[in-house]
Amino acid sequence: MSQTMAATEFWERMSVRAPGAEPPGYRPTGTGLRHALAALETAAAVPSAGAIRPCENYVITTEADGLAAFHVDPARRRCARVAVPHSVTLAAAAAGLPVIPESGAHVVVVVRPWLSMRKYGDRGYLYAQLDAAHLATNLLGVAGEFGDAELRLRINRGPLAVLLGLAESCREAHSVVTLRPSGRVVTGVLAGWTVVDERQAGRGARVTPLEAACWAQLAPLLDEGWTGPSSPVRADTVVAPHERIRVSVPFGVGATWSRASRTRFSSKGFLRETVPADLVADALSAIQVLLPTDLPAQPGLHVSMLVRRVAGLRPGTYRLTGTGKRRLVGTLSDALVARLCMGQNHIGAASAVVLLHTARGDLVDSRRLLREQVFRAGATAQLLYLGAATAGIGITAVGGFDSAQWAHAARLPGDQEVLYVLALGADDETAPKLDRFSSAYAHNES
Ligand SMILES: Cc1cc2nc3c(=O)[nH]c(=O)nc-3n(C[C@H](O)[C@H](O)[C@H](O)COP(=O)(O)O)c2cc1C
Repeated sequence: MSQTMAATEFWERMSVRAPGAEPPGYRPTGTGLRHALAALETAAAVPSAGAIRPCENYVITTEADGLAAFHVDPARRRCARVAVPHSVTLAAAAAGLPVIPESGAHVVVVVRPWLSMRKYGDRGYLYAQLDAAHLATNLLGVAGEFGDAELRLRINRGPLAVLLGLAESCREAHSVVTLRPSGRVVTGVLAGWTVVDERQAGRGARVTPLEAACWAQLAPLLDEGWTGPSSPVRADTVVAPHERIRVSVPFGVGATWSRASRTRFSSKGFLRETVPADLVADALSAIQVLLPTDLPAQPGLHVSMLVRRVAGLRPGTYRLTGTGKRRLVGTLSDALVARLCMGQNHIGAASAVVLLHTARGDLVDSRRLLREQVFRAGATAQLLYLGAATAGIGITAVGGFDSAQWAHAARLPGDQEVLYVLALGADDETAPKLDRFSSAYAHNES
């Protein structure tokens, strides 16, 4: 390549292009899209590592000419009917999705890992999966307010990737939430939304060489998805049940979920205070809320809570799944808690730290099991966020932490790997949100 050519390409790669003029408007004929947009609008406000939000949504629903696919961007309130290479009905069946009534919809949660990985490296893939689990779980809960809703993780991802052009745009189907509205019919939600017909214009996602290189490394590592017969959907807990914990928060799939979802937020810091045990118990009980999914029984994801300053509870590690036994642990100073969270000082004063953990074998023996355990961890964290919002206690998800050192400090059994951490305590509303800084602060990178 000549010097001039190289310089031209170098400059081209640095340039950006404004989107073209909007394609023509589209008037949806079915009610399924309306329901899906209403659910997505409320459900989209979930926690996200570094507030990056690496997920996208596609809706598959009935239009006058049969099943159609739409791309939905809840942040811009924009929805586009997209061109597909072949029958949506055949692709949905091949992916293992059930037939839906006309007012129903499948919402496909899609992950674009690069958005997280360019900031957080390989760990960014884990964050993107956790983010997607928060979103899919929240969507399931909100969608339940319109009728039946169910979440599928055991889908055949290949046909959906081909249908929606995911692999060539470096994206991956995460899960599908199916809505079958029965009661409340949504009428007004399209107000404020732009709905366009992109079938002629094409999506034209621009993939940069950096994103393509990231995807080329990642794609061979991903599981191909579920090709066996569809797994039945059952309402169950996503974590192993506990002998005594009963749900004491007034929300569940289809019941006041939206309200909890609207009020939740991540604490930016914690006051060094002792918090009441009943608030902590209420927040924690949310992890036992039943979710209709196609995951098998015997989850194997465990929850332990390291109590530091909770009134009436002796410090130690409490198992919140299985037998609920307490293990004594040495005192963990605020400085040590911050250090085990990769130097995040704003986590140090948390009154309790919840650890989501599983046997290491579950994470390294099978990519499908890894995907499912990470989903369970993200779903549990979303439930905890809603439980904490309902109980009125501060919470922050923590992805930047040292797994082995936390397992040791909390005296978890030797084979356990910590997948996700949640800090609970008295919210310090004056603190700045450091995790949103452009440096990977949560990885102690600065
Ligand atoms: C997978 C994941 C990892 C996160 N890790 C951290 C973390 O290490 N430290 C932190 O302060 N916040 C962390 N957060 C919380 C995000 O910073 C927070 O969700 C985001 O800034 C949006 O704010 P909001 O939750 O109040 O809407 C994490 C969130 C997710 C979903």
